[in-house]
Amino acid sequence: MSHRIVHSRLSRRRLIGGAASASLALIATPAVIRATVAQSWRSGNPFSLGVASGTPRADGFVLWTRLAPEPLSDNPDTPGGMSGGDVTLRYEIATDEAMANLVRHGEATAERAFGYSLHLDLAGLEPGRPYWYRFSSGEAQSPIGRASTLPAAGTALDKLRYGYVSCSNYEHGYFSGYRHLTDENPEFVLFLGDYIYETIEENRPIVRRHSDGVEASTLPTYRNRYAQYRLDPDLARLHAQVPAIVTWDDHEVQNDYADKWSEYFDDPAQFLLRRAAAYQAFYEHMPVRPIVSHPEGPRMRVYDRFTVGDLIEISLLDGRQYRSREACYRAPNKGGGHLETNAGCPERLDPGRTMIGFDQEAWLYSNLAHSKAQWNLIAQDVLMAQLREKQDGVDSFWTDDWDGYPANRARLLRHIHDSKVANPVIASGDIHSFLANDLKLDFDDAKSPIVATEFVGTSISSYGPPYDPIVQALPDNPHIHFFESRRRGYVVVDLQRDKMQVRMRAVSDAHDPKASIETLKTYTIESGRPGVVEA
Ligand SMILES: [Fe+2]
Repeated sequence: MSHRIVHSRLSRRRLIGGAASASLALIATPAVIRATVAQSWRSGNPFSLGVASGTPRADGFVLWTRLAPEPLSDNPDTPGGMSGGDVTLRYEIATDEAMANLVRHGEATAERAFGYSLHLDLAGLEPGRPYWYRFSSGEAQSPIGRASTLPAAGTALDKLRYGYVSCSNYEHGYFSGYRHLTDENPEFVLFLGDYIYETIEENRPIVRRHSDGVEASTLPTYRNRYAQYRLDPDLARLHAQVPAIVTWDDHEVQNDYADKWSEYFDDPAQFLLRRAAAYQAFYEHMPVRPIVSHPEGPRMRVYDRFTVGDLIEISLLDGRQYRSREACYRAPNKGGGHLETNAGCPERLDPGRTMIGFDQEAWLYSNLAHSKAQWNLIAQDVLMAQLREKQDGVDSFWTDDWDGYPANRARLLRHIHDSKVANPVIASGDIHSFLANDLKLDFDDAKSPIVATEFVGTSISSYGPPYDPIVQALPDNPHIHFFESRRRGYVVVDLQRDKMQVRMRAVSDAHDPKASIETLKTYTIESGRPGVVEA
């Protein structure tokens, strides 16, 4: 693991009270000066990281910004170039894009303890409509962002468009997928993990560098990653225009971690300190609810449920924080994901193992039992379908995705089947490939019923796994109807009461900042008939 070299340098007070003079700012300690509404910014744009809305509900949503006049500041004492105490910002919310018809305004706090990020959790708004918002501080104004409330649970809704994305390695490519998804005007976008990469690419072609050149492992280095990603104009525009629903995968912390077990056999107590820093940086940069998702040391709640009218209910899962250790985790070189045979790793099949933790599993079953929606989406980080691969001629399974937790998967699919969940669909990321899969009670029995349908949405920019070995394995996996690891992009879903249309959208070249977009595949699921059908 790399450790960041911290350059000490003179801390400069960026923000001074409008009434207070610069000299007062110079002599005051940070605790003395509490910023007031009237402020002056001496230099830099405090809103360089843009704005975001997310975690939408029928009566509200979370609005986010983070003050960062020096977004890539490498001084841990002055995150984003900020110093001093909490900062009070002014916010305005309007029903029109020109911000003429204001419906709310007031003050909200950017918290020093959380990198001067602000999470404004609003309630009491009208359901099922867009709003526009902006923040200001002194003469500095944020861009105008668009937010929206969800249609109230149970109200008739006959169509909905949403998208989902995962795996945007900044070093591997540009974020044209984010740009094209914004242009498709989805009601919201689901981020399914690997929003940042903590790593530094050492082997494959690099399009643009992670600016600090170190593996993120501390609060300042994780902050720097998020800040660098948010400076990308395509991602900034997506967040300003489209509400975000966010979960994480491994690279928000470390490759292939599981609960307190790192990829490299670190002391779990040490790894939890790293996880706490990573979770805090995630919180600081995401429009998540400030009470529900407030990080408490190495713990943070990200799993959540979203009900959109009577059309769809979304259970958004956390597949990392509560999972059992990777099966057959043993030195040397067996940390993280790896292929295992049944004979070589009986632990993988242990029914006591869990992918999502027993509390989250019970929560999920409760959601599914009580859902009255026409469609039920489980949005989560990793491939759920079985993928039988050959290693040295022997059937093998990857331990980092649901194949590492087959008993948990079997329980989930059995539950969906037995409780007759209406139109279950799974959205997944992580594997940097498009896949269209039938999920079956028994993947090895051709007659076993199809319980749900899974669509995996490749990566925004991260390189895919080798194509040929998995294509060669497809005859052993007849429930996998499509696999494509060579294209980058995202998924857009157009939902109606009687059918779900899924479009796999691929960019022409993730190494081209002006990449075009095309539809690689279109699938249609009819209500009441799970299973992959190409349109
Ligand atoms: Fe990834």
